Amino acid sequence: MMILIRNARTSDLDTVCSLENEWMQSPWSRTGFENELSNSFSRFVVAETEEGIAGYAVAWEVCDEIQLNRIVVRGDRRRRGLGRALLDYIILELSPPGDRRVLLEVRARNEAARSFYRTAGFVETGLRKQYYEDDDAVLMERTIR
Ligand SMILES: CC(C)(COP(=O)(O)OP(=O)(O)OC[C@H]1O[C@@H](n2cnc3c(N)ncnc32)[C@H](O)[C@@H]1OP(=O)(O)O)[C@@H](O)C(=O)NCCC(=O)NCCS
Repeated sequence: MMILIRNARTSDLDTVCSLENEWMQSPWSRTGFENELSNSFSRFVVAETEEGIAGYAVAWEVCDEIQLNRIVVRGDRRRRGLGRALLDYIILELSPPGDRRVLLEVRARNEAARSFYRTAGFVETGLRKQYYEDDDAVLMERTIR
């Protein structure tokens, strides 16, 4: 399988928004993604295969830290390394030399994502009770050297 990770563009937004609506419980709007294309602190990338866009990731660079906001892979393309490829790429792109903390919040009940992040070297550092209307948030972080 060919995988190309590249910066997102406006023509990707239809696919990105449909994946977002299908897989995220509190989906971002199209306007939200449009803003991600232009924010200077934001990195918004997609994973493209022969069959089109199979996933995307969004991260922000905030005060020396990387805040990971989204990694989503199409349901029928999971467990093939695409999520990891998106994660590695976005971290590499945002990391200047030196230590960097990468932070994220994940729904406590999202076991797949928690395992995915643990496998990628993240550790769970805290819990925010009822952070989401219907779930707690687990805080995870990883230091990049
Ligand atoms: C989390 C997500 C992005 C992972 O994408 P993916 O492309 O399947 O991940 P990878 O194939 O790169 O997985 C890498 C490793 O993570 C772990 N992992 C991934 N999915 C897992 C699962 N469902 N259960 C347990 N471990 C899992 C495994 O160790 C896996 O390696 P392996 O397949 O060799 O065992 C994907 O499940 C997804 O899009 N979920 C819905 C959206 C979401 O919740 N995103 C996170 C919050 S924004």
